[in-house]
Amino acid sequence: MKRLLRTLSGEAVWPPPVWLMRQAGRYLPEYRAIRADAKDFVALCTTPALAAEVTLQPIRRYGFDAAILFSDILMLPWALGHGLEFKEGEGPVLPRLRDEAAVAALDPSRVAGRVEPIMETVRLVRAGLVAEGFGDTALIGFAGAPFTVACYMIEGGGSKDFANVRAMAYAQPALFQRLMDTLTEASVEYLSAQVTAGAEALMLFDSWAGVLSPSLFRTHCVAPAKRIVSALKARHPGIPIIGFPRLAGVMSRDYAAAGTDGIGVDTGSDIATVAAMLPAHVAVQGNLDPLAVVAGGSPMQAETAAILNAMRGRPFVFNLGHGIVPQTPPEHVAALLELVRAG
Ligand code: CP3
Repeated sequence: MKRLLRTLSGEAVWPPPVWLMRQAGRYLPEYRAIRADAKDFVALCTTPALAAEVTLQPIRRYGFDAAILFSDILMLPWALGHGLEFKEGEGPVLPRLRDEAAVAALDPSRVAGRVEPIMETVRLVRAGLVAEGFGDTALIGFAGAPFTVACYMIEGGGSKDFANVRAMAYAQPALFQRLMDTLTEASVEYLSAQVTAGAEALMLFDSWAGVLSPSLFRTHCVAPAKRIVSALKARHPGIPIIGFPRLAGVMSRDYAAAGTDGIGVDTGSDIATVAAMLPAHVAVQGNLDPLAVVAGGSPMQAETAAILNAMRGRPFVFNLGHGIVPQTPPEHVAALLELVRAG
């Protein structure tokens, strides 16, 4: 079994498998070259040959233990018929979803057709990994968790505190729940299609889970994760699922109770403290500060050693605590890989 998959099945593989969130991206010159030629970011995500190529770029360079499908969490609302644009230097821009009519306009019946190019990317990457000799690299499929996707849909893009989202959850609970239910059901279909196409593990990005109160976190993060995990495991027995309740701190334990095989830990959480709250078979993934990789040298070495020492002897996947940033020198990533592979 591949090293990542052994780890997610509860084995303390050492040195640990390693991959990095956003490992395909703007810090790589070969990514920037393809991105410059693509019409826009959505076109890049829906052109299988290009999306598969950028998925494989970091694998060729570094031989990571996992490839992650090149796409975006906002491709699911896009597939539901919600607008999506990536503006240069601004990030994603979406129509603001604020009323019943906007939720009713989301159309689950179009998802399968619109995500078909993404499924073709999955098939191309699986074949590419074998053809290029990366037989131990596992392919991770992913989706944004319903709450995090709802955050971008309601705000119309990013936000520092997602105040409109939290206000809607309190003031219009029925409307908010209807949106969450639509996204939960669509996520199951979308992730299931990725497994059918060849994804070997799945990750659920709940990047804004940490902005919620504990009770709303249980209702809008844990409960949907549980529905998604149960439905996927019923359809695809044994498919490993990593949850990433970013900024959730001690609430990560509640998230793991949804039945995930792994829990991603963000940069600001003490990974040993989170690990101690989880069942021993649940793999922990994380959590080097992306800015430590920008720094490189002895700060990166010290931070990496602390994480490795804290995680030795338990199922653990080395990763960053959030996505790699564009200003990262690619040679620092090579140096990081050496540190991790030395255990
Ligand atoms: O390599 C990988 O990790 C796979 C591809 C991937 C992307 N986005 C590509 C991307 C994955 C897994 C994501 C997840 C994602 N997207 C999340 C969850 C993780 C997190 O960061 O919290 C979120 C919140 C998004 C939404 C999103 N997409 C934002 C806020 C932005 C703009 C910020 C930015 O970095 O520009 C994106 C754009 C995006 N998604 C890029 C990439 C490579 C950059 C776009 C470009 O190349 O112009």
